[in-house]
Amino acid sequence: MFLESLEVTHLRNLQHLKISPHPKTNFIVGRNGCGKTSILEAISLLSNGRSFRSVDPKKVISHTASELVVFGGVNPGNGSGPEKLGISKGMNGSTLARIDGETQKRISSLAIKLPIVSIDTGSIELIDGGPGLRRSILDWGMFHVEHTYLDIWHRYRRVYKQKNALLKSTKVISENDLSYWNQQLVNEGQLIDDMRGKYIAELNAQFQNIASNYFNIAEPVSLRYKSGWNKQKYSDLYQCLELNARTEIERKTCLYGPHRADMVISWSDGMAKDICSRGQKKLVLYGVRLAQVAVMRALRSISPVLLLDDLPAELDKNNIEYVTRFLMDFPCQAFITAISEQSINETLLSQLTEHHMFHVEHGKLVSAE
Ligand SMILES: Nc1ncnc2c1ncn2[C@@H]1O[C@H](COP(=O)(O)OP(=O)(O)O)[C@@H](O)[C@H]1O
Ligand SMILES: [Mg+2]
Repeated sequence: MFLESLEVTHLRNLQHLKISPHPKTNFIVGRNGCGKTSILEAISLLSNGRSFRSVDPKKVISHTASELVVFGGVNPGNGSGPEKLGISKGMNGSTLARIDGETQKRISSLAIKLPIVSIDTGSIELIDGGPGLRRSILDWGMFHVEHTYLDIWHRYRRVYKQKNALLKSTKVISENDLSYWNQQLVNEGQLIDDMRGKYIAELNAQFQNIASNYFNIAEPVSLRYKSGWNKQKYSDLYQCLELNARTEIERKTCLYGPHRADMVISWSDGMAKDICSRGQKKLVLYGVRLAQVAVMRALRSISPVLLLDDLPAELDKNNIEYVTRFLMDFPCQAFITAISEQSINETLLSQLTEHHMFHVEHGKLVSAE
């Protein structure tokens, strides 16, 4: 699977840009502010309806326009013709997703056709930030290995929101009132927990392989799932919810369940967040995201499209060589941005020989090979 054509209209400074990407590596080069990250943003929108830089569509739509449109031709890699994906976003937040001209009820239909893994400057939050981003990349991974996961997650969210609304309301709530919602929550909650646990076990195996065999990390590193409740203390989620109903009523919020889960990233005998240098954190971040690529390949025989923003600026020479080695063994379509052709590491250029180089100036393509 790879993106064989991309057409972007009215996205930031890209008024109208059309490219035919290489099935393997695509280098996008140009000065600061020319629109390189915006091209990656366009691919991200086409995959999941969201930009990795901004949740507010008004910021992404060009100042001079009221709507942005991205079209992409996805070659499924099985000999059949390209699937035509399209997404448009209006100033009022409206989103329209299409596949081969047919309007889609869910954006996730696009993600199935065009799975992406993106790493940009903000991604370091995966190590440094709160659990929200870690849960969302876990859910991304889960969805791509098991599409039914999304429905299970939506059902859980719906009940969780209703229970939370009740807890926050001014009504006097009894433990019995809560018990009704807890019974609704546990099936999906337990299922999500089991699925995530299995996924992280797989992810951890790939992560450890990448860390020691590709990234030369000598310290022991690992990924571990932390459920949203204490599994040593309670026999299951239902028992935890029932025994803590009073506390939830007093605190007016849902305190236990998969919405509180996390992924613990360990380095040596501590947490990566606390003991790693910035360079090591970046390497761990690449390790986790590339492990997701490896898991998808192992379990679904699919390689997602990689978006690596400013790779030469983000990683040092050795680490870029490590990533290159991974890309050689796990071939996938990649989009890599850089300030200039000269700034791209020699190893990247010489090893990833099957590539296109796109030069961008002021939101326009000036040359492509
Ligand atoms: N909504 C918008 N409308 C028009 N231009 C924008 C908008 N948002 C950002 N820009 C401009 O678009 C350019 C996008 O830059 P970006 O893709 O981040 O560049 P690069 O990654 O090449 O440094 C910047 O020059 C920025 O000022
Ligand atoms: Mg940029």
